[in-house]
Amino acid sequence: MIPHHLLRELQKKISASDHPKELAVEVMYTLQSHYGYLSDEALIEGAELLGLAPLELEELATFYDFIYREPVGKYVIHVCDSTVCWMYGHQSIIDYISKKLCISLGETTGDGFFTLLPVCCIGFCDEAPVMLVNGKPYGHLTPEKIDRILEELKEEKPPAVEGR
Ligand code: FES
Repeated sequence: MIPHHLLRELQKKISASDHPKELAVEVMYTLQSHYGYLSDEALIEGAELLGLAPLELEELATFYDFIYREPVGKYVIHVCDSTVCWMYGHQSIIDYISKKLCISLGETTGDGFFTLLPVCCIGFCDEAPVMLVNGKPYGHLTPEKIDRILEELKEEKPPAVEGR
């Protein structure tokens, strides 16, 4: 259940908007930040606030790569899955991370640390192949660079890898 202060905050924003439905993505992100992902409960609560049917909000939620309808790990790795990164070996990057973490795309490691997902072009094509970790871009990926990033994340230190 949405805590009272958050409910008030969302209601205030929605009632101040001429077109509340335009706030759907913001509402979903806010609920996701609170719950850790957009649970069924959160989806229904969000739809109610926005005056939408849950299915309408579900359709929007599944359109956005960064709205999670299932629990995700502490670190969400989005590997770019678009044209330029394809040319620069995105599949070998996915294969390497999958093997290293023992998960496939769409899965989360047993320790809850990492989730591996694809994402459409994130605009760093000149640094392909690229991934995001919790929204932070890392480019010119190699197995060695991935090792360093993941090791530092596992140690719960912010990654100190130079450049993107
Ligand atoms: S195609 Fe990968 S960042 Fe643009």
